Amino acid sequence: MTRTIRGGRGRLRLAVTLAAVSAVAAGAAVALASGAEAGSTLGASAAEKGRYFGTAVAAGKLSNSQYTGILDREFNMITPENEMKWDATEPTQGQFRYTGADQIVAHAQAHGQRMRGHALLWYQQEPGWAQNMSGSALRSAMMNHVTTVAGHYKGKIYAWDVVNEAFADGNSGGRRDSNLQRTGNDWIEAAFRAARAADPGAKLCYNDYNTDGINAKSTGVYNMVKDFRSRGVPIDCVGFQSHLGGLPPSDYQANLQRFADLGVEVQITELDISGSNQATAYANVVKACLNVSRCAGITTWGIRDSDSWRTGENPLLFDANGNKKAAYTATLNALNGPGSTVSTPPVSSPPPVSSSPGGGTGNGCTATVSVNQWEGGFVATVRVTAGSSAINGWTVTLPVPSGATVTGSWNVTRSGNSWTNVSYNGHVEAGQYTEFGFQATGTASGLNPACSAA
Ligand code: XIL
Repeated sequence: MTRTIRGGRGRLRLAVTLAAVSAVAAGAAVALASGAEAGSTLGASAAEKGRYFGTAVAAGKLSNSQYTGILDREFNMITPENEMKWDATEPTQGQFRYTGADQIVAHAQAHGQRMRGHALLWYQQEPGWAQNMSGSALRSAMMNHVTTVAGHYKGKIYAWDVVNEAFADGNSGGRRDSNLQRTGNDWIEAAFRAARAADPGAKLCYNDYNTDGINAKSTGVYNMVKDFRSRGVPIDCVGFQSHLGGLPPSDYQANLQRFADLGVEVQITELDISGSNQATAYANVVKACLNVSRCAGITTWGIRDSDSWRTGENPLLFDANGNKKAAYTATLNALNGPGSTVSTPPVSSPPPVSSSPGGGTGNGCTATVSVNQWEGGFVATVRVTAGSSAINGWTVTLPVPSGATVTGSWNVTRSGNSWTNVSYNGHVEAGQYTEFGFQATGTASGLNPACSAA
């Protein structure tokens, strides 16, 4: 495939807020990302900033111990490189095959990694039968595909790329022609609605390339997202692939920020960078993400240079022998450097349903909860906000509603009704917040959190 790898110039400026690394509340369990010491791996360092650090994974490489050694040490989010695409999951119409994708999901679950799903609808890597379809028959095949695949992975996906690369390159700012597009301009919103119905707990993203700076294409996407948000089409996030040929564009951070200001989460989804200033370029991407509070995390498109789809360009963080490159060190240092410590705010949930102050006047904390409820289950996101002084640990008392069963939680240690910080999110600066969450079956009625600072 040919594509323009877009480079740019310019340094990004940082808001200097030094992240003090967690003083853990007495007795709190220490649960570091990937079991590593805080600040010494990409995943742990990103987690200290409330972010994830991920990579694309190929199922066929999971038997390679060098590959999995790096994967499980450094990364806490996984995107299947090809295994969730349409040609892989529905090679024959109506016959679904999840072999490779299920292997990757099983690996992630066994190693405490979260999953990005990629991608439900894309004009490339369509199975042959779909390439030969058009009109209403194709539209219904598309929607059946979204519903079935998102349904198969319900509850297991942090974020789905529902639609990939639907905008045209160049100056039109409009949609790319494809058989998908020719089923009608509303195919994208129809896909997002079908995905929400199939997996209400997954964040739903639009993902594209050459949208990394402010340009005609990214503005086309921006206008679509703005329109979707205003009309209640369920979109939660925008993915910026960031296949770069040097420094990110000078307006990279400003571009992320303008999308974030629409109320969506932003994610760097397929980062790889060629060129001689690779280390600086990686650092600049990381700094931009850390400067945008709704930038949830960064995914590189592969682990070692030899794993990259950009053959011969060596655009990744590890060399072919699995050694850390200068770009790795620059990335880790940027993750450990100054930057916003806030977590990403909830983007698709209704406003907090309840809130309760705790911990005393002036130096305690406040907990609020927002809920994303669907038929039979919910995700609760709990925000812990420090009062007028920094806190060094917190516990939120929050009984689970009767009839509800917690099936998973993140950024927290639970003991009955007590939810306590983990190592990397106990320290919260005055007036700042961090978030944890859990998913449960049942109904989220009467959630009433109380916060106390350690
Ligand atoms: C690439 C994979 O890395 C290759 O293995 C495959 O042959 C082609 O697709 N944008 C995307 C990704 O959204 O899915 C693409 O992945 C890279 C460009």
